[in-house]
Amino acid sequence: MSDFTGERLQAALAPRAVHFYRQTGSTNDHAMAWLEEGIPTAGSVVIADEQTHGRGRMGRAWYAPPGAALMFSYILHPPANALAYVGMMGALVCCELAETYGIRAGIKWPNDVQIDGRKLCGVLPEACWRGAELRGVVLGIGLNVSINFAGTEFKDTALSLQTVAGKLDRLDLLDRLLQRLDYWSVRLNSDDLYTNWRERLAMLGRRVTINRIDGYAEGVAESVDRLGALLIRTDAGTLHRMIAGDITLG
Ligand code: BTN
Repeated sequence: MSDFTGERLQAALAPRAVHFYRQTGSTNDHAMAWLEEGIPTAGSVVIADEQTHGRGRMGRAWYAPPGAALMFSYILHPPANALAYVGMMGALVCCELAETYGIRAGIKWPNDVQIDGRKLCGVLPEACWRGAELRGVVLGIGLNVSINFAGTEFKDTALSLQTVAGKLDRLDLLDRLLQRLDYWSVRLNSDDLYTNWRERLAMLGRRVTINRIDGYAEGVAESVDRLGALLIRTDAGTLHRMIAGDITLG
């Protein structure tokens, strides 16, 4: 039996509003629909044990076996000028969680959390607009807790927290993450959030390949600016400012 039930989650996370699904399409889709229908309070959360249409960045799919990951979407109401910081916050709280077990996690720009170069978790922020009105933001987080990647295509590129931290309780992990999200979500524009995110970036000063929809380029990841854009010095000496995309180290 799963460690998650609607009752257990409601009781442990009260007074937060919680929607739990044993199986659903995508928690981000549910949270977006929730925002379109009403005004869920900041900190409301949609959790699933399994997603059939889980979504990742850049149109990729995201799947995890039931009971072996944390998959949830956190709702917040930031000012429009703080949208750039929501994904940073997602990556930061996952790093902080690993650090409570004495494990150093790093961020691969923009917001993949890695341990020893293997992906621990991904974040997917999405804004819900009605015309010019920002109704709210959904921050989707997928954290590998106890997935066994041996023998899969991800064996060298992904990692579960339990592999390095020992036996874990998913509800305890979720509660800790939500508390840190509550803390940072009212400090999105702060220097403190930006500084904490920046100091965990794993690839500054290293050679990277930039993968973009319109092609790719190579250069050195020189810096990030205050909005989180990556500044890459190409071999031709030009400085590129990337606001979205993927990079490969080396
Ligand atoms: C990435 O590509 O790294 C981001 C992955 C985000 C996955 C999470 S799981 C919970 C939430 N619901 C989704 O459909 N996606 C996010």
